[in-house]
Amino acid sequence: MSSIPTLASLVKDGKVQNDFIMFEDERPKVAYNQFSNVIPVISLDGIEDDTPGGQREVIRNQIAKACEEWGLFQVVDHGVDPKLVHDMATLSREFFALPDEEKLRFDMSGGKKGGFIVSSHIQNEVVANWRELVTFILYPIKERDYSRWPDKPKEWRAVTELYTENMMGLGTQLLGVLSEAMGLERQAMTKACKELTQRMVVNFYPKCPEPSLAIGLKRHTDPGTITLLLQDQVGGLQTTKDGGENWITVQPIEGAFVVNLGDHAEYLSNGRFKKAEHQALVNYDHNRLSIATFINPDQEAIVYPLKIEEGDEAILEEPIAFGEMYKRHFVKHLERGKAKKLAKEN
Ligand code: SIN
Ligand code: FE2
Repeated sequence: MSSIPTLASLVKDGKVQNDFIMFEDERPKVAYNQFSNVIPVISLDGIEDDTPGGQREVIRNQIAKACEEWGLFQVVDHGVDPKLVHDMATLSREFFALPDEEKLRFDMSGGKKGGFIVSSHIQNEVVANWRELVTFILYPIKERDYSRWPDKPKEWRAVTELYTENMMGLGTQLLGVLSEAMGLERQAMTKACKELTQRMVVNFYPKCPEPSLAIGLKRHTDPGTITLLLQDQVGGLQTTKDGGENWITVQPIEGAFVVNLGDHAEYLSNGRFKKAEHQALVNYDHNRLSIATFINPDQEAIVYPLKIEEGDEAILEEPIAFGEMYKRHFVKHLERGKAKKLAKEN
């Protein structure tokens, strides 16, 4: 058995270790359960009705507005079977409840592309997140490495396969709406991705003895195109507008997906649609589960605005391959952390 400790085993005398203590200015300011209802909740019922003035147009306008303002919204009536969504969450929770040695059979520290990891073992992070996760590639299908997928609980794989297919359908549907909102053909954003790829991260945030000092997942934007997030009823997801400090806690809605745009969507829309800055808080009383499905372009897809309004400049100096954009995104994130550490030490 590996000797890597999971988070619960790291708590000593009711305290988290120093690795998890956030820089003072980044510590949570708004409570994990102080919910706000300012984030749009959009029903997708009737989305197929694309007659002039029909429901698709109404939905398109709502989504475009939410993306211009927040880059984040929730969808309900999305057509994904509620039982599938429920099973996906329940089975994922059961995985995290397994004994450490079962989870650590899939340990991915040391450079594996998929599996289970405790975030204090993610290298180069200046402050560790209070989270455990399972992650793997789902699309393209030929890149699925089933040897890195948990094999317990035993229904988990089959449910994940069905869930991922549904997420691809919903993601494609939303990219179609966003493309139309830019005045482009429905397939425009999908085509710009060359081939849609998909990765999943199942996040488990154990209860934390010092939730005002630690964080589940530090502020970030997602580098890809669009993310579909399923969260439980505990709460903890926060977002802020325009890179500001005014944090909003997203109200959990049973069965809804939180949709957020990543850097790639902001570039494709030349900044009209915003990438959403977000973070996840932990709390003292409850474990929390969230499942993020990232819909991204192929590594070789060329990133450049699909539409530049007259009089505007392109927000990208030159076209860039998504693989390179992705690398730069994470280098920037790491450098920010290192700079903060240096500033604190001096
Ligand atoms: C994420 O940003 O991938 C997860 C956010 C959350 O757990 O709410
Ligand atoms: Fe994220």
